[in-house]
Amino acid sequence: MDLQNLAYALTQVAHNFGAVTVVAAPLYVVGTGRPVRERLVLRLVLTGWAVQFASGALFGLVSFHFYGQFPDIHGIAVAALSVKLACASVAVILVAVSLRSRTPRVNRHTSPVWLVLAALGMIALTAAAFLRWFS
Ligand code: HEM
Repeated sequence: MDLQNLAYALTQVAHNFGAVTVVAAPLYVVGTGRPVRERLVLRLVLTGWAVQFASGALFGLVSFHFYGQFPDIHGIAVAALSVKLACASVAVILVAVSLRSRTPRVNRHTSPVWLVLAALGMIALTAAAFLRWFS
């Protein structure tokens, strides 16, 4: 078995599940309008973004290991990667601040935080397509 392909595939598995989590969980809360067990879902979303950071970095490390250099990307691909990093950073801060908040919103209206988290996830997922096909 080709070790390089295996490393990329396993990294992609983690990255795919992270992507599903950061997009689907906030969309579910926004869609249903019911922030049930909000802190639990916030922790799930935080885990998803952390997985994206870690597996995204792992993509680069796998390239470095097998090719001795990081992927050579330019222009739109760099912009797309920057968008992803920006979305991930803002999302992590937003979730952390929400988790530290002393006023849980359970049983109240859906917080706009969920709308922003859903948007950040979808923007990052859109950027992923541009990173893929312009690199
Ligand atoms: C947080 C920082 C992130 C980094 C550093 C990162 C990095 C990467 C890299 C290097 C690739 C491989 C690109 C290629 O095959 O040419 C990739 C693929 C991908 N990323 Fe990310 N990513 C991040 C966040 C995200 C997020 C938040 C999402 C989704 C919400 C996401 C979704 C995807 C998808 C779907 C692919 C596969 C694209 C394809 O092959 O069609 N990534 N990412």
